[in-house]
Amino acid sequence: MTDCPKSQWILILILCIVQIVTGNYGLWADWWSYEGISGPEYWGLLYPDWLLCSKGRNQSPVNVDPKTLLFDPSLDHIMFKGNEFTGYLVNNGHDITFDIEELRWKGVNITGGPVSYNYRIKEIRLHFGTDDSYGSEHSINGKSFPAEIHIMAYNSDLYSNITEAEKSPRGMLILAIFAQTTDVTHGEFEILVNAMNKTKYKDSTKVREFYLSRLLPPTDYYITYEGSLTHPGCYETVTWVILNKPIYISKKQIDTMRKLNQAGRKNPQMLMAGNLRPRKDVNQRTIRTNINFHNHKCSMVQHMYYSVNNKYAET
Ligand SMILES: *[C@@H]1O[C@H](CO)[C@@H](O)[C@H](O)[C@H]1NC(C)=O
Ligand SMILES: *[C@@H]1O[C@H](CO)[C@@H](O)[C@H](O)[C@H]1NC(C)=O
Ligand SMILES: *[C@@H]1O[C@H](CO)[C@@H](O)[C@H](O)[C@H]1NC(C)=O
Repeated sequence: MTDCPKSQWILILILCIVQIVTGNYGLWADWWSYEGISGPEYWGLLYPDWLLCSKGRNQSPVNVDPKTLLFDPSLDHIMFKGNEFTGYLVNNGHDITFDIEELRWKGVNITGGPVSYNYRIKEIRLHFGTDDSYGSEHSINGKSFPAEIHIMAYNSDLYSNITEAEKSPRGMLILAIFAQTTDVTHGEFEILVNAMNKTKYKDSTKVREFYLSRLLPPTDYYITYEGSLTHPGCYETVTWVILNKPIYISKKQIDTMRKLNQAGRKNPQMLMAGNLRPRKDVNQRTIRTNINFHNHKCSMVQHMYYSVNNKYAET
């Protein structure tokens, strides 16, 4: 108990009072942030159901050390069923989320790759920094990217919705894509950027047409590991798939993201940028890849964004 900083006890005290007054844990679900006493260091204390945020040993995000990557020949290509989405771009105060409508004739499912179930895409979340030096949640060899896009899919073979799936075994697959900045506008990403005009403050707006294939970078290669959600409750139910190439968005596009606010119009100084969780230890996990460095035909060697596994790159 002696190693518990004073500020934590004050926080616990405040939360207990809140709890007594409200008698309702549900209220806390909105009460977290990326800094200060409601920030990532304290998520695990905010709500009993979020214990894994502080105690979990299979947490995300992580830094990927290329030297430890393991080539796994049993990893298939990822398969997408469907292509088009509609939904709402929501500024919920923590994140900017594209909340996808579950319609029978639209939407995209993911199978193959490292998973054996059908995963239905339900949300796309964006994480980004205040400048280009950081922003991605994962890093490769200690290197951050300006932004990271999370395509969040839930196991629809076993579970009826994302709320149930995110707490349950094999519940989630998150496809992570890094974004690098350039001078060229990314056409499909621009649809979300345009919608951000209407979600600068806590708000939501309809997105009528969005094609996943036009967003994704052209690659079949990825890195995969078992981890957690990167926001509360940090449930360890996620198979992560990190694509080996970034997409390119323009400086103007990322600048629009950086103007997003966490709060209502009354607190315009609270920018959302910097909405990333600090990296967690890999511990005993294995990070696998379908990139066979031994017969390095894949384009990754030419565009060495991630200098990977020199040990196997020879011959
Ligand atoms: C995706 O999966 C859901 C539920 O398993 C199914 O209802 C839907 O038709 C599938 N969509 C496509 C495009 O395959
Ligand atoms: C999700 O599914 C569970 C189990 O079927 C159900 O109890 C719950 O009400 C559903 N939640 C939402 C938000 O639809
Ligand atoms: C964004 O909003 C501003 C003012 O609110 C408007 O002038 C501009 O045309 C809008 N841009 C887009 C792409 O909708």
